[in-house]
Order: sequence, then structure tokens, then C-alpha cells
Amino acid sequence: MQKRRFTKSIVALGAMTLGLVLTPAVQAQQAPFKIGFILPMTGQSASTGRQIEAAARLYMAQNGTTVAGRKIEVIFKDDGGVADATRRTAQELVVNDKVDVLAGFGLTPLALATAPIATQSKTPMVVTAAATSIITEQSPYIVRTSFTLPQVTLGIAEWAAKNKIKKAMTMVADYGPGIDAERTFKDRFQLNGGTIVGEIRSPLRSPDFAPFLQRVSDTKPEALFVFLPSGQGAAFMKQFGERGLDKSGIRLIATGDVTDDDQLNDMGDVALGVVTSHHYSASHPSALNKKFVAAFEAANKGMRPNFMGVAGYDGMRVIYKALEATKGAGGGDALLAAMKGQLFESPRGQILIDGQSRDIVQDVYIRKVERVNGQLYNMEFDVQKAVKDPGKAK
Ligand code: PHB
Repeated sequence: MQKRRFTKSIVALGAMTLGLVLTPAVQAQQAPFKIGFILPMTGQSASTGRQIEAAARLYMAQNGTTVAGRKIEVIFKDDGGVADATRRTAQELVVNDKVDVLAGFGLTPLALATAPIATQSKTPMVVTAAATSIITEQSPYIVRTSFTLPQVTLGIAEWAAKNKIKKAMTMVADYGPGIDAERTFKDRFQLNGGTIVGEIRSPLRSPDFAPFLQRVSDTKPEALFVFLPSGQGAAFMKQFGERGLDKSGIRLIATGDVTDDDQLNDMGDVALGVVTSHHYSASHPSALNKKFVAAFEAANKGMRPNFMGVAGYDGMRVIYKALEATKGAGGGDALLAAMKGQLFESPRGQILIDGQSRDIVQDVYIRKVERVNGQLYNMEFDVQKAVKDPGKAK
């Protein structure tokens, strides 16, 4: 601290001798632009942290580390998926590190815990993971590049009704995004003439699905709709298969969180034929996505990008372009204004940061798990274009 102050006065003295006056704006532009990512790097949601960090680093490797004259500095912090740690870390990043942007947030409670800090400090908060509809309403400084559960659930509810499924059961993780998914599926499925014959909510923290799968097996619905957060899909699939449910005639349908690209390839035959709706598949057949997947896999051996990774990558894009738009000046309100309305091609397809809601508008794909060249992929076979979060209307 002492040393820094000393160095600063030397610089100021030098500038004065040269007859230059460093205005605060010029000084700020010379300082690095700091992005503080808070992510679960350990615990149940560790894959979310791993994916987003890898994708953010890839974005920087491809797009450089200087934007409008400012050096970009990223700080990655692990909150272990615990809201108190997220809140404390956000406070430290804002107060001590003086970050220009907060980013990440692997689970809904972690985003909710940070929203007041973003508001008080006027720091843009880019949510690259958490997906409960209400999150963006918790602070005017929140922008989201991930998705919302109502947005991605409508597609599979429509598909089920169109594919002669009349009786379905729902099973969701018992917290924000699960409740969003359950309500959306139920409303749309019933609207299309379907009947819900059972509803299960499984605890977020102890994913033992055995008692719930027993209920499914006893009820024998035509289809079981599932939402579980990224990281739990493989455990669920294993238990589904062990109980022989994949051969019981009960059709498994889900949001793409369950057939997560981070884990899908290790799920085995039990995942084959599972139909889901979601906004990103590593097999999305665009030229941009092929490039993204190849670069991601080359930089991270043995890892395939999933929907969390792509949201981290796009989050960096939104931040870079906002800083560019402010000509390197930054500032919470100016950055936020420049984040709103960004429209661009992402590896997932075209996306828009809605100027009003600050939430993402994107295509949602209907996909089926298939084996392609020996690997399991979510193969897209239908699309709903430019879907807004329908949860906002409620
Ligand atoms: C969330 O907590 O908002 C969340 C986490 C992981 C997902 C979806 C939603 O896959």
C-alpha cells in the first residue's frame, strides 16, 4: 500500500514535470479492467465452475486481453455452491479488488444472495448459470447470458402433447428452477389436453432418487418429465437404469440439464432416445459452434463444452463489447446500458440481451440422445425460434 502510493506520486510528479495533467478518467483507463467470477469450483456443482472458467479463458485466448486500451484481468473465486460464501466473496471483490463486473453464479440461491450487492455498488452482474426466472428482477444491474427454466421447458411440454403422451408425472429438484420447470411443464401440458398423474420434488442437496423412482414405477405414467441441475444428471440416469425403468415403457423426457454434455457421454445406453428441450447442444451444427467445440476440446483435454460453458463464453463477449462501447471508460451504468440490446451469433445460435428485461432471448431446440461416431450427443431435430422467458408474465 505504502509502496503503491509512493509509486503513484512519482508518476504524478513525472507527469507534472512534463507539463501533463492526468485526469481521473485517463488514470482509470490505464488501470486494468477487472472481472470477478464467483463460481462453484468444488462440491456438487463443480462442473459448472470448471465449464465456465474454461470457456471464459478460451474467449480471452481467442479475443485478446486488451479491450479499448484496458488490460482485462479476470479473477476466479470458488464459493463451493454456498450462498454465504458467494455473498462474502462478492463483497470482497467489490470493496477490496474494486472489480468492474461481477460474473458467474452457479445456482439460483447464489445469484439471489449477490443481487443486493450489485445494486448497492452499481456493479453489473452477469449471470452465466443460474436459471430461475425471477433472478433478473432482483437488481437492475443483472444481465443474464444463460437461460430460464420456463424458457426451455415449454418446448418439451409441447413435444409431449404432440407425441400422444396423455399422462405424465413430473420430478424436479425442490428449489427455484425446479418449481419454475414443474409449473411450466404442468401448465402447458394440461393446456394441450394432458393429465399430470403425480408430482415429485427431490431435495437439492441429497440426490438419492431411489424412493422417488419407486413411486414412478408404481404409478406407471406414459412419461416422466425431469429437471435436475447440471451435475446431477449422471447419478439420476444410473438409478433410472438400475431400476429397469428404461425398459419399463415409461418414456423419459427432460430439460437438457439432465442430458448435460459435460456428463452425457459417460451415461451409457440408458440415455439413448431421451428427448429433451434446451438452448445448447455441443452437436449444434453451425460453423461457429464447430469451431467453438474444437477449440474448447483442444484447450481442455477430455472435456466437452456444455450449456454452462457456452453461457460463460457469451458472458465474456457481452462484457468485452460493453467495455468497447464505453471506449474503455467503463462505469456501472454505462456498461449496463451497453450490455442491453446486444444481438449476436453465439455457438448456440442467435441470441439477444433484451433491453427491457436484461434477460436472454434465444432459440430452444428439441433434441434426442443418439450415438454418433461412438459418442452420445443431444441431436437437435426441431427448434422454437427466439423464445423469451415466459415466466416473466406470471
Ligand atoms: C439454478 O440453480 O438456477 C440452476 C443450476 C443448474 C441448472 C439449472 C438451474 O442446470
